[in-house]
Amino acid sequence: MDSIIVRGNGALSGQIPIAGAKNACLTLMPATLLSDEPLTLTNAPRLSDIRTMTALLQSLGAEVAAMQDGQVLALSSHKVANTRADYDIVRKMRASILVLGPLLAREGVAEVSLPGGCAIGARPVDLHLRALEAMGAEMELRDGYVHAKAPGGLKGGVVDFPFVSVGATENALMAATLAKGTTVLKNAAREPEIVDLAQCLRRMGAQIEGEGTDTITIQGVDRLGGATHPVVTDRIELGTYMLAPAICGGEVECLGGKIDLVGAFCEKLDAAGISVEQTNAGIKVARKNGRVKAVDVTTEPFPGFPTDLQAQMMALLCTAEGTSVLEEKIFENRFMHAPELMRMGADIEVSGGTATVHGVDRLKGAPVMATDLRASVSLILAGLAAEGETIVNRVYHLDRGYERVEEKLGNVGAHIERVSGQ
Ligand code: EPZ
Repeated sequence: MDSIIVRGNGALSGQIPIAGAKNACLTLMPATLLSDEPLTLTNAPRLSDIRTMTALLQSLGAEVAAMQDGQVLALSSHKVANTRADYDIVRKMRASILVLGPLLAREGVAEVSLPGGCAIGARPVDLHLRALEAMGAEMELRDGYVHAKAPGGLKGGVVDFPFVSVGATENALMAATLAKGTTVLKNAAREPEIVDLAQCLRRMGAQIEGEGTDTITIQGVDRLGGATHPVVTDRIELGTYMLAPAICGGEVECLGGKIDLVGAFCEKLDAAGISVEQTNAGIKVARKNGRVKAVDVTTEPFPGFPTDLQAQMMALLCTAEGTSVLEEKIFENRFMHAPELMRMGADIEVSGGTATVHGVDRLKGAPVMATDLRASVSLILAGLAAEGETIVNRVYHLDRGYERVEEKLGNVGAHIERVSGQ
């Protein structure tokens, strides 16, 4: 297993290119199952999760070709040879559940392994199933699989989500494009990845209104065509790299960044004393002098502060002046980076969904363990400004969501290297 070694190396300066969004691409790719014509995705990120989704779609009979070093994905499923998504692939990546809606809409039948939980929580899929039942599907949970049927095809219906779910909104949105009649999704997720999916589906011929608001209305059509669609910028990678100069000092421009993708996050950086400026090329972030100020953070569905930036923000607040309170409202166990940051000298108290961070002057490098995707990158950020050397182990978590992290940070002056495991 590879490790990444980071040494505090002073202020950063330069530009970091931001890739296409992992969490947009992972829902755009299954959309190919809705049509028998080619779907081409540009600005695709080069990540292990994308390769996992590729393998899953190929196991269903879709063709997926990665071109231009993986930045262009050419997908086509003129026929679906298999409607069963096996456990051995699904268990690697929860987003595999996103083939359920498209398979059901296209073939009227689907068997998808339950994804199981992961480090950050149980992560059930009950809302996905209820949404599809509201469109006339028959669902049965058996032997660890969801057995779904819609023999006469899906019918339009009203789906009223009891709370916001990104994945359930995406499954329902994709399925509704081919349902007979009108579907209304209430309390729908408003994330930019949902908007991106709706725009791609519309290019394929879907009739959708309201994406980006909490009510999305879809008029089903008989079939969808092909399309070419650019994957939206990854707002979580963007926020992650905006924190690098905030933690180390200096000035970095994140190319392709747009403030409306990270509005709530930018408000917190501003309150902490970090300067954030939209330029023609992206977002410029600087911390010239003085210490970061403590701020309180509560994670919420978009447009609130993203849960996927909570761990990275905690890394910044470990050396802020004062005490910060972070409330994690989306997942039940998303503070596993805290004990690792404490190994580096951070002063953090965790109680249930609340972490209280008392700022210290400086962290000290130490060997630490990555536990999940966003926790692993928060340890790298902490190591960028720590005294001495930090070794982050199990970086396979990192490679799921961040392409070439050592190159992107190394290019702006960070002292970071990857050591291949045995
Ligand atoms: C998506 O996961 C993202 N993953 C997550 O990013 C992100 O943290 C999350 O949305 C919230 O923004 C992808 O897009 C591939 P949810 P998803 O359904 O769809 C509960 C990363 O680091 N829930 O909005 O699974 C669930 O357990 C990953 O890139 C149910 O109870 O998230 C959670 O507590 C991590 N039943 C909450 O709702 C359901 O049927 C929000 O989950 C579905 C969800």
